[in-house]
Amino acid sequence: MKGSAGTAEKMGEKGIKMDYRKVSDCLGVDQVGHLTISGADAVLLAQEYGTPLYVLSEDKVRDTCRRYKSSFVSDYDGFGTPIYASKAFCCKEILRVVTEEGLDVEVVSGGEIATALAAGVDPKKLHFQGNNKSETELILALDRGVGDIVVDNITELHRLDRLAAERGIVPKISLRIKPGIDAHTHAFIRTGQIDSKFGFALETGEAMEAAREAVASTHLELVGLHCHIGSQVFDHEPFVLAAKVMLGLFAQIRSELGKTMTHLNLGGGFGVRYKEDDAALPYESYMDDVSKAVHQTCRELGLEIPKIFIEPGRSVVAEAGVTLYTVGDIKTIPGVRTYVAIDGGMFENPRYALYQSDYTCLIANRADQPADFVATVAGKCCESGDLIQEHTPMQKPEVGDVLAVLSTGAYNYSMASNYNRNLRPACVMVKNGRPRVIIRRETYEDLLRLDV
Ligand code: LLP
Repeated sequence: MKGSAGTAEKMGEKGIKMDYRKVSDCLGVDQVGHLTISGADAVLLAQEYGTPLYVLSEDKVRDTCRRYKSSFVSDYDGFGTPIYASKAFCCKEILRVVTEEGLDVEVVSGGEIATALAAGVDPKKLHFQGNNKSETELILALDRGVGDIVVDNITELHRLDRLAAERGIVPKISLRIKPGIDAHTHAFIRTGQIDSKFGFALETGEAMEAAREAVASTHLELVGLHCHIGSQVFDHEPFVLAAKVMLGLFAQIRSELGKTMTHLNLGGGFGVRYKEDDAALPYESYMDDVSKAVHQTCRELGLEIPKIFIEPGRSVVAEAGVTLYTVGDIKTIPGVRTYVAIDGGMFENPRYALYQSDYTCLIANRADQPADFVATVAGKCCESGDLIQEHTPMQKPEVGDVLAVLSTGAYNYSMASNYNRNLRPACVMVKNGRPRVIIRRETYEDLLRLDV
């Protein structure tokens, strides 16, 4: 679908009528040719709430949560639960929605814990991850009764042991394991192999040693193991392999340390669609494959089936999100390319700058027209790499158009910054055609609040 650098901007007769529902089924096009999200007209949303604007379909988020929940019923008789990895998009309202749907919440910082508590999430349903939790963060987790602390390294195990002893409590912990599996994804978001900053390695004996210490501790209760092999993974095979490897360690810990653990968290990482031709990953078939492997491996090793957890972030919110911008300028460099300048950029979506991520772009006020123009979408930050997408098809843009970027629900708001002192956008959630603000737009006052 992409043109190549330096080609003419126009696709002419090759113009393609896009089917945006193939990227996300919460999208549509209304009678006046405008893009719709969960039944709300994107152009009206941009007019009413301003741009740049994050829009999230509540219906789509809920639907995904229900699909995950129901596969736990069919695959594990409901013994286990999906956990929403809140790093994908963490704000109070999203956490209320996913916990209403019965998901637990994964947190990786004091800030995410604070957000979850402010949203009214039961601390017992929090799973605290991270490779360098500070003492302050660990104390917050212990004092608020966080249900599962996933210990990343031996220093943390000792720190937690001391903090628990000082408080006279016995928190439930899991160990983060590197199962030694290479998920085929971008190097920055791959985490399960030995050369990773996360977790205890299996190959070196580090994992067994950590388990030995955890079992020996009278202040910590080792309930399970955790792994996360990477993000935006489409293959089932690495997940199946990870489940088998992790259960092997369950059996080894039982035989060598006499400890039977009850929780297995297989992490997140399921791929989503950014482009029309991306293959949809049916979660249900992933869940089926992993469940078969879990059942078979447990039978072979004589293990009780542990309570299974998975930790999806991206797949819960990505396809539910769209970002809306106003086109401020169009700069055509003859024989080179056309830049479409929008009022957002890497400060609210750094993913192209960081990972050259794919996105689908379109002109929301002419969504019914063929995408017969190729352009590069540029942000407003003061650097050349501030791009959202290069050489991407869209309807011919005009100044003042509303440009939409699809599948922006994950890792956009959560990775936004105030680079160049830009203000972070508002977020509107749409339920059955009705929008409501869930995060208000930043103001210059907000921006200056911390300056002394
Ligand atoms: N659990 C753990 C321990 C994780 O580290 C992650 C993601 C998840 C669950 C959720 O994975 P997901 O289902 O969202 O793939 N900023 C990058 C993604 C980094 C993912 C980090 N960890 C991006 O924009 O693509």
